[in-house]
Amino acid sequence: MEKNLQAIVEEAAKNLDSVANRADWDNVKATILGPNGSLTQIAKGIGGIPKEDRPAFGQALNRTKKEIEEIFKSSLTSIEQKADLEALGTEVDPTLPPPANFTGGTHPLTNTRRKMVSIFRKIGFTVAEATEAETEWFCFDALNTPEDHPARDEQDTLFFTPEAKWNNIKQKKEEAYVLRTHTSSVQIRSLLREKPPLRIIAPGRCFRRDTVDATHSANFHQTEGLYVDRKVTIKDLKGVLDFFLKELFGDQVETRLRPSFFPFTEPSFEVDLRAPNIGKLSDQWIEIMGCGMVDPKVLGLVELDPEEWTGFAFGIGIERVAMILHGIDDIRHFYNNDFRFLTQLNQPT
Ligand code: DAH
Repeated sequence: MEKNLQAIVEEAAKNLDSVANRADWDNVKATILGPNGSLTQIAKGIGGIPKEDRPAFGQALNRTKKEIEEIFKSSLTSIEQKADLEALGTEVDPTLPPPANFTGGTHPLTNTRRKMVSIFRKIGFTVAEATEAETEWFCFDALNTPEDHPARDEQDTLFFTPEAKWNNIKQKKEEAYVLRTHTSSVQIRSLLREKPPLRIIAPGRCFRRDTVDATHSANFHQTEGLYVDRKVTIKDLKGVLDFFLKELFGDQVETRLRPSFFPFTEPSFEVDLRAPNIGKLSDQWIEIMGCGMVDPKVLGLVELDPEEWTGFAFGIGIERVAMILHGIDDIRHFYNNDFRFLTQLNQPT
């Protein structure tokens, strides 16, 4: 019997020698370990063996089975390695980290901001930054927005008074802080920091007490622009914005300035655009941003002579641009961190 078992081990090793794929391996396995396999047949013979010899028989059988299984296992490993090598053309190094499916990337709002900034850089604008927590003076007063202006309304603005809390004293009105409601405050910070001529673009986060819906968020992003020099005219404003919007949305873009009102620009305009590839209707004008000529009062407040200096300013929402560029209909997608949304718009860094 021992002889028979040894013969089966040898048979297994010999037959596996010429096996080149998984299907053939399965066949060889069936001839030995399958229901009608040679080892199974021997095992079935246990009934015909005298009782006292059965334990020894069982042990020998198990030893052989284990030995055979080892042989099959190592044969399968080498078949698979060969197949991998053929498929990959190179040896597999199992110590290497797995190939990454997702390499990470930048947020769609970051991509949009970079795109916008890079367009303005081409025409000599530099990036300016300022704090998100501002005094009321920078956010409103210096921008010719008086105390009773609705933009300051507690409905719109997030006020906070850190010193007052620490010192447990009543904050003086003129020292009240707000989370900036727009990036226009950077106009004033820049004009006080640098003397004109000045060309800045100021992207950043803004805050309002807005109720969140498909087009509003209490936390959003804008890019401010400011150009102050001698003899700047509305023609310069229109030229710069046309260039920007064509670079951003494509050459077919048409723009128009529509009279509007902002406290810090005079005259003020809304910029509308239309293009066949934008929006649902190709002949529809879409409002995209606000702009205007810097109000002489604002220049006066930062001690610039309005007779010598003129300029234009503009403000544009980054979410709005990203929504138009990608056809997104709900601003909340930008903040939900849903991987399915982000990976659709992901661009490698
Ligand atoms: N600050 C305005 C807002 O948040 C946008 C704006 C309009 C900025 C006109 C400007 C401008 O610089 O000239 O709605």
